[in-house]
Amino acid sequence: MPLYLEKIELNALAKQYGTPLYAYSKLSIVEAFKSFDEAFGTRAHTICYATKANSNLAILQILLELGAGFDIVSGGELQRVLEAAKRSAHQGRHIFNPKKIIFSGVGKTYAEIKLALQAGIGCFNIEAFAEIDMINSMAAELDIRAPISLRVNPNVDAKTHPYISTGLKENKFGVPIEEALEIYQYAATLSHLDIIGLDCHIGSQLTEISPYNDALDKLLDLITILASANIFLKHLDIGGGIGIRYNDETLIDPKDWIDTIKSKMAQNQHAKNLEIIIEPGRALVGDAGVLLTTVTLTKENEGKYFAVVDAAMNDLIRPSLYDAWMRIVNTKPSNEIKRIYDVVGPICESTDFLGKNRELALKSEDVLAVLQAGAYSFSMSSNYNSRPRACEVLIDEDKAYIIRERESVESLFALEKELLV
Ligand code: LLP
Repeated sequence: MPLYLEKIELNALAKQYGTPLYAYSKLSIVEAFKSFDEAFGTRAHTICYATKANSNLAILQILLELGAGFDIVSGGELQRVLEAAKRSAHQGRHIFNPKKIIFSGVGKTYAEIKLALQAGIGCFNIEAFAEIDMINSMAAELDIRAPISLRVNPNVDAKTHPYISTGLKENKFGVPIEEALEIYQYAATLSHLDIIGLDCHIGSQLTEISPYNDALDKLLDLITILASANIFLKHLDIGGGIGIRYNDETLIDPKDWIDTIKSKMAQNQHAKNLEIIIEPGRALVGDAGVLLTTVTLTKENEGKYFAVVDAAMNDLIRPSLYDAWMRIVNTKPSNEIKRIYDVVGPICESTDFLGKNRELALKSEDVLAVLQAGAYSFSMSSNYNSRPRACEVLIDEDKAYIIRERESVESLFALEKELLV
């Protein structure tokens, strides 16, 4: 069982709220956040949680009340963060400063830029040359200044799955590091921009520290070059990407990572006093979640066993999309014969599986748990096959609180119009 959900009877939880069900441990999120936060000590820093990993408002509230900032990639995520902040303020729990929001993403639209400027976010992470003019002109229209940082692509191999690697030349993210000086110099000529930072994000689920070091060395060289061109920054944003253990991966210790960043920065006179920003997503919420699902039936096709469960690729697409391996366990000890099962959903696609070739003892009606399902799980879910999305609950100690109701089928077609032609 996942470390933080020991106090809760997952089987009983599934019976009470129905399945598929996402359950998240509050304590796990708090402890993960602290492991990063405490590693910074007194060093100026902001941990900007990558909202996309899990954007449930209650999860955002937990993080913002811990002092997190947010890395957002859409107007929708911005509105979510603002709504979470509003709720925490209304409840008298926390006043959030929108300056702790940074806006990444390769295709910010004018409407999104406007929304972000009006909200007073802390920084736009520029990912394309053309974006500079877009942000400058929108800021001019609103008669305000836009704080910007350039997301550079350092061309390092993050040694992760190609679909979640972002720091290579062939990836669409950021601007080539070789062009950065020129782009900064251009930005400096524009009337409504304030250059405040430099950032990069090289990929997700990293399990080795060396790609970070390679990227950081390149960033520090660039900071020196910028300083000699009289461009001085306020922060350096190293991005996110710290991996978690789904199976037997070796992990990067947040403290080692942050200590290395601090010491490398201390050796550069133009970087030593910069605020450090990081953008972890998975490492803050991944371990906190499980997806509970009930076995509908088992079947055997000529010696191959399937456990057909009531969760599917619409609830959890990581296995189908990235061939991601996520641990699956029975929430109760079972006397059934252990067999090698493919754990599959009911969706009409051969890629609809949660796990292949898993040794499990189970029977129909048993509740299985897919572990480490706190990140990129619910947030990537869909309504494919007209399946309402799962209920989400937050576990605090031994109590469960619903943080998102199960969707109704009616809500799925509520926006659809009668045929008129
Ligand atoms: N910052 C930026 C600009 C990002 O694009 C991402 C993730 C992060 C931070 C956070 O990365 P993390 O710390 O969570 O690794 N859906 C995939 C992961 C996609 C990550 C996209 N960007 C998965 O399920 O593995």
